[in-house]
Amino acid sequence: MYQTNYILEMHILIILFCLIVKTGAVLEKTATPPMGYSTWNTYGMMVNESIVLQIAQAMVRLDLPKLGYQYLIVDEPCFIGRNSNGVLLADPVRFPNGMFMLASYLHSLGLKFGLYTDAGPTTCGGCIGSYGYEYLDMLTFAIWGVDYVKVDYCSSTDTYTASTYLKFRDAIMSTNRSMVLSIISWGLDSPWLWGRNVGNSWRIAFDIRPEWQSILSILDQSVGLEKYSGPGGWNDLDMLEVGNTPLTFGESQSHFVLWSILNSPLLLGNDLDQMSSEITSLIKNREIIALNQDILGIQAKMIVSDVWAKFLSDGSLVIAFLNRGSEWLNVTIYWNQCYVLDPIRQQRYGQQYSAGIYSKILASHNIIVLRFWCQDFHFILDNIYPVSNNSLGPFNPPLISAATYISPIIVFLPFLLF
Ligand code: GLA
Repeated sequence: MYQTNYILEMHILIILFCLIVKTGAVLEKTATPPMGYSTWNTYGMMVNESIVLQIAQAMVRLDLPKLGYQYLIVDEPCFIGRNSNGVLLADPVRFPNGMFMLASYLHSLGLKFGLYTDAGPTTCGGCIGSYGYEYLDMLTFAIWGVDYVKVDYCSSTDTYTASTYLKFRDAIMSTNRSMVLSIISWGLDSPWLWGRNVGNSWRIAFDIRPEWQSILSILDQSVGLEKYSGPGGWNDLDMLEVGNTPLTFGESQSHFVLWSILNSPLLLGNDLDQMSSEITSLIKNREIIALNQDILGIQAKMIVSDVWAKFLSDGSLVIAFLNRGSEWLNVTIYWNQCYVLDPIRQQRYGQQYSAGIYSKILASHNIIVLRFWCQDFHFILDNIYPVSNNSLGPFNPPLISAATYISPIIVFLPFLLF
């Protein structure tokens, strides 16, 4: 069976190799951050064809493509070698029908196919990389029907990270297939400075883990990078650990909201078949996804410690308050001449511009996010402050400083944001 498929695939490849016409530059740039699923966080080196098919079916069953989750990225496919022409060979045991058939199947479901390789001779998992074969491998990926290429950086000995990735960009552009290039140099050589001309997104940090400290560490490394992100070039905070233990639900929720407002690619990485109903609702929350997919493409900026602000294309303003500490916090927010949405709860406050108040106890590692439509943003920003409640614990220092410093900052908010 495999033999037949393999021969069929090789014939198709040879025909396509002959037919391919170089029509010039095609490097896919996405107008909003890419969304989808990546296999690494749950399946690691164990990924295989049946797992990918299972994920694809779960994505469709859950209606995820309709929400924007369109890429299914196979991380570490672990090619077994190259044929006599240097063409990559998929592992016949793990991918018995080959990559071309896999891509065709995913496309038939309305999904897009993402595939991983590495800029060095070997991948981080010790499999074969693309070093020295960049053009051939990108051509092979194009022929297979790949839509998204994740290029890792393990074992690369190139001196200049940018030139390594330029090779992949040019290789992609030499095919006639539109493919997204995802740069994974873990922030080495500041990819936010050159990544926009080379790929569609760039990782800003080393690998995420399903731990609160890991999420905070990547979050802190994103501060100040907002000016580099925008349509066609995104800071990549790494694949989502939403729903993965030992993260609590509150931590998953904060993680999802933060990655959304920071315009990171939203690549799910949990077991879609074992998802709780609250995680399902979280990843399917249209109001949160809308913050990520807003066409203006402005990444949220931290205006004071653990308070982020982001303008959206309809003139509304999103403000998020994170409680990173271990104490509970009482948060009260006043506004005037606004109407407000709590995207997490999908709850509206006021039907038209009016005065209002939002008061909430914010548990440790939780987040509040509010979207304001206001006639005048100054009042709301001037009046955002947390209130201590002795029965719940002491003040949270970062938010106190937010309260203290927010008023003068507000006046300059438009300048800080752009
Ligand atoms: C690196 C990348 C990860 C993942 C693994 C696979 O660590 O940063 O995202 O792709 O390699 O080995």
